[in-house]
Amino acid sequence: MTIVEPDADGLRRAVELLRQESVVAFPTETVYGLGAHAFSEKAIAEVYRLKNRPSWNPLIVHVSGVAEARGLAERWPDVANELAAQFWPGPLTLVVERARHLGAVGPRLDTIALRVPAHEVALKLLEASGLPLAAPSANRSEGISPTTAEHVLRGLPDVPLILDGGPASLGIESTVLDLTGETPRLLRPGALGLRDLREVTGAIALPDEVVDGAVRSSPGMGARHYAPRATVILAKDVREVEHGDLTGPVAVLSYESVEDFSDELVAEVLSADPREYAADLYAALHRLDDAGVGTIIVQAPPETEEWLAVRDRLRRAAA
Ligand code: TXA
Ligand code: MG
Repeated sequence: MTIVEPDADGLRRAVELLRQESVVAFPTETVYGLGAHAFSEKAIAEVYRLKNRPSWNPLIVHVSGVAEARGLAERWPDVANELAAQFWPGPLTLVVERARHLGAVGPRLDTIALRVPAHEVALKLLEASGLPLAAPSANRSEGISPTTAEHVLRGLPDVPLILDGGPASLGIESTVLDLTGETPRLLRPGALGLRDLREVTGAIALPDEVVDGAVRSSPGMGARHYAPRATVILAKDVREVEHGDLTGPVAVLSYESVEDFSDELVAEVLSADPREYAADLYAALHRLDDAGVGTIIVQAPPETEEWLAVRDRLRRAAA
């Protein structure tokens, strides 16, 4: 396993591995992906094996542009065109009907999830390889997604090559939108906010879980996910959590500085701006795990729509 610079030589090695139906980790603007030729059964099997990913959970296919995306779809609705024109390259994944001549990417669904990533290295890799690349986040299933090459290395030491594109700028996964029904349906809240999406699509159906926290919508949205090794506790007021029975060391992750805390506690204070908070969240969770904390008390973010994706990830980390 090696971390390599994404220069001409690094890209050449990455393309070679992908063409040999092996896998390569690469940076995107959201999180690092574990890339594989989307229609190679061998390469896809390797992705599921390395991540220990359940076989029912499908993968997002990354393409270099809208034309490439359309080529993999059986039907390409007008709203997909409008969304792509507005938000691609970018952190939006569109689920559409899969072209019938293509094999399924992972489980046998009639649909395919597509996105054009907004990262120079990812786009260069897509163009140089000429392949659609299936790429889930480059971490063990249920674990914290990687926002740096070092996170990938620590979580998946058996990946043959990691292209280092520096820290991911958005730091949280793409928003996944299902376009196969009458009304666009949110499958996973993510880096692209609902307000921006609605300006293009009008009404968006929300998964029940956004409302009551119980129902699964996207196949990959199991309750426990994005979780550090430490136990995560969400609390409106972190000062009110009793420490007596908690596994130590205890850490606090908040978006406001919390006064009156004993000095023994490890504290991570992130931004009160939801985008900045999202950009730092996974890195902070990785740091707390590395520091060996036993419990992380997380200040529950506001119940507003701007915080939807962050709240979703924290709720799953705490499940
Ligand atoms: O930002 C991202 O989307 C990152 C980067 C690497 O692009 N990728 C990512 O992939 O987060 P992953 O595999 O960790 O999450 C993919 C999500 C899962 O919730 C999965 O169930 C859903 O997309 N998904 C994939 N294909 C689908 C399909 N055909 N129908 C419904 N949901 C699908
Ligand atoms: Mg993931």
